[in-house]
Amino acid sequence: MKHATNITWHQSKVNLEDIERKNGHKGCVVWLTGLSGSGKSTIAVELEKQLFAFGCHTFILDGDNIRHGLNNNLGFSPVDREENIRRIGEVAKLFRAGGFIVITAFISPYKKDRLAARELIDEGHFIEVYVRCSLDECENRDPKGLYKKAKAGLIPDFTGISAPYEEPDNCELVVDTEQLSVLESTQLIIKELYNKGIIDH
Ligand code: ADX
Repeated sequence: MKHATNITWHQSKVNLEDIERKNGHKGCVVWLTGLSGSGKSTIAVELEKQLFAFGCHTFILDGDNIRHGLNNNLGFSPVDREENIRRIGEVAKLFRAGGFIVITAFISPYKKDRLAARELIDEGHFIEVYVRCSLDECENRDPKGLYKKAKAGLIPDFTGISAPYEEPDNCELVVDTEQLSVLESTQLIIKELYNKGIIDH
């Protein structure tokens, strides 16, 4: 890979504190991780809707959507997933610097890739949420019919079937979507944002 040289960092004259004061809330990254079909995108959309109603500035980065554009040159090998998550971590960092509550919805199956994304964000502003759902239940739901295809050997490197998912062991929050409704999961995340001082109501 070619690395650029002779590049300069240009400092903004609008600082984050001023943006956050104007917005009435802090920025952060809500990093949803979990199996395909666990409910990440559904929760992301509901969370965005509720935060928007509170007047918060939010932005969703969703795996399926981002893979249509920015990351359309990446597949599902470990190296491509690492690059997928690396880019998303960097994009999330930019939006966080703009004062947004960034909601990411990526399987992000590897602990080391999630840790690398966390390390890009200032302490206390990376909220990793494990959207937990058993593989059996994800296979039952199979909203896109992908588990069926993967089990038939039609999709290589499919998370949970022929590729690993490494469960978080140090995340800020677990929402179990076999036990909780979408609204209940979303409420737990909003409570966590409140407890962390990101939002104040
Ligand atoms: S990640 O592992 O790199 O974080 P990402 O969240 O971007 O994955 O994309 C996952 C989505 O891509 C799944 O929800 C599913 O719709 C689709 N997909 C297609 N092929 C695969 C595969 N081999 N493994 C997992 N998801 C896949």
